[in-house]
Amino acid sequence: MLKVRGLEVFYGPIRAVRGIDLDIEAGEIIALIGANGAGKTTTVRAIAGLTPYKGSISYDGKTLPPNSAELNLRAGLAMVPEGRGILGRMTVEDNLNMGTYCRKDHAAAARDIAEMFERFPILKERRQSLANLLSGGEQQMLAIARALLSRPRLLLLDEPSLGLAPKTTTAVFELISSLRRDGLTVLLVEQKARQTLKIADRAYLLETGRVVMSGPAQDLANDSLMSQAFLGGATAL
Ligand SMILES: Nc1ncnc2c1ncn2[C@@H]1O[C@H](COP(=O)(O)OP(=O)(O)O)[C@@H](O)[C@H]1O
Ligand SMILES: [Mg+2]
Repeated sequence: MLKVRGLEVFYGPIRAVRGIDLDIEAGEIIALIGANGAGKTTTVRAIAGLTPYKGSISYDGKTLPPNSAELNLRAGLAMVPEGRGILGRMTVEDNLNMGTYCRKDHAAAARDIAEMFERFPILKERRQSLANLLSGGEQQMLAIARALLSRPRLLLLDEPSLGLAPKTTTAVFELISSLRRDGLTVLLVEQKARQTLKIADRAYLLETGRVVMSGPAQDLANDSLMSQAFLGGATAL
């Protein structure tokens, strides 16, 4: 479904991503894990069409030009950015309305919003609240719901557990698993390696802009190098 080859991203003279290859098949949860600064966000932003890059990214066999975020969204590729990107001074409902802006099927979009309220009753309850009055977990649900309203086939999630309490993190991970059961393909970017590997099918471990390990999530979880570097260390959480 998505094929990334030789991806390189520069910030001025800094090469933040140094030649990444990555494949995503339909129906998978692919994990992209790595410490702070490893290049995870830069990679997903390139895939979402939000940054210039070298190398190639193709989606359903078609090359995605760099910086083509709107085109990518219309092709079914949606992202929930790091920090969630919700509009705190707008209501929950208006945030959801924003999620449908790229659609022309207004009646179906309205039905989808109603469906989101059924799926996330807390959002229905708080629909007139300003989004910044929601808890961190509720804001993450809102951000995911908003992304789903573009009817994506591939959802990119950048550190959805960031800043959330352990219980809330578990709820968000359960939600991600349920999205996959519904047929969505997910690229899950995370620092919380242990929990992420439990729900992912395959995983890539990034270190300073390079893939240093990849394979079935279970294999990475059992790898001794991986457990020394991550799962037992302070960054594992
Ligand atoms: N806007 C930017 N300008 C310059 N350097 C950046 C910028 N964004 C990220 N970087 C650098 O690129 C590297 C990768 O960052 P990032 O992709 O955010 O990593 P991660 O998401 O894994 O924490 C880091 O060294 C970071 O300091
Ligand atoms: Mg990041």
